[in-house]
Amino acid sequence: ETVEWDPEGAAKGGYDHFMRKEIEEQPTALRQAIRGRVGTDDRRTPADLESLPRDSLAGVERVHFVGMGTSYHAAMYGASVVDWGIPAQAYLSGEYADRTPEPDEGTLVVAVTQSGETADTLEAVRRANEHGARTLAVTNVVGSTATRDCDDSLFIRAGPEVGVAATKTFSAQIATLALLRERLHTDTVGAHSDDIDERLTALERLPSLVEQTIEDSPVRSIAREFDDSDAYFFIGRGTGRSVALEGALKFKEITYEHAEGFAASELKHGPLALVTTETPVFAVFTGYDDEALLTSVEEVSARGAPVVGIGADPTGALAERVDHLLELPDTHPDVAGVLANVQLQLFAYHAADRIGRPIDKPRNLAKCVTVE
Ligand code: G6P
Repeated sequence: ETVEWDPEGAAKGGYDHFMRKEIEEQPTALRQAIRGRVGTDDRRTPADLESLPRDSLAGVERVHFVGMGTSYHAAMYGASVVDWGIPAQAYLSGEYADRTPEPDEGTLVVAVTQSGETADTLEAVRRANEHGARTLAVTNVVGSTATRDCDDSLFIRAGPEVGVAATKTFSAQIATLALLRERLHTDTVGAHSDDIDERLTALERLPSLVEQTIEDSPVRSIAREFDDSDAYFFIGRGTGRSVALEGALKFKEITYEHAEGFAASELKHGPLALVTTETPVFAVFTGYDDEALLTSVEEVSARGAPVVGIGADPTGALAERVDHLLELPDTHPDVAGVLANVQLQLFAYHAADRIGRPIDKPRNLAKCVTVE
């Protein structure tokens, strides 16, 4: 008797899709991303980050993050956590040349790119180099074009990602950018901020919290409830806004359903007109500005929209204000978004799986876009 050897099935390691496998690989990806990079000395200063040792970023006056797709959302997330003491802004690489501030010698341009080959991002790096800015590639691929074109590289060490929809690389990008933030702040603002210990501890605990989030997630049954919705909206504030945009991107790309992410503060300036009883709203709570986000939740609830809250709920107060709760372990607001995003990845995955979409290869999309 012979057994059929299915190389692709073997590569999927028992999962139906690479995306599912890669979602489950996030604890490992995160452990690899932070290994050896969190300082263990008493002062908890960040360890040397390969080509970025202590004081290597001392001259940096501002940071421009550039990226496309999921990497742009990681760039936005990075800008939200860095933008304290040092001005930081995220740009779509494809628009970086158009009317954006010119980078100069005091500017660190961080190219966030999983593949290191996205044409728009390489073009943004070229512009930055022309203006004499310092360039840093934050990438998954050793030897990629971005690593050759940038002054320095920081590897996210997530391991190969096959699914077109980026999952584990987003988490590893955020962990890496969180470490970069500590290096930047220690080197520029000088004094190490009071809660660095809290942030680094949260980062070290993140892999096991992601594990717990995946294991406990009730999201599969929630996906079933919203099968026939007209559209899916995602809202958040600060880092929660980047996660809302990423949640919507993941959902639309693999389900082909209409999904949109908004800054919660934008709701009443337009998007609220779209909200009905047939448009579930996913609200990403990070522990920062939660009260303001609850006001937005009330606005959509008043229009009859089912609300799914994603967040920690130590007091049980959140559960009372939303229709469904995807509960997260309690952690530092700077990394809570990673946990929320895992829930949204799983939601998109189960919704797409229920309607039989080709999850790993969505129509019209490519893993790597090498044309501008
Ligand atoms: C494509 C992929 C996305 C990815 C984006 C940027 O659109 O489908 O998943 O986020 O490119 O790719 P990069 O390799 O630069 O992160």
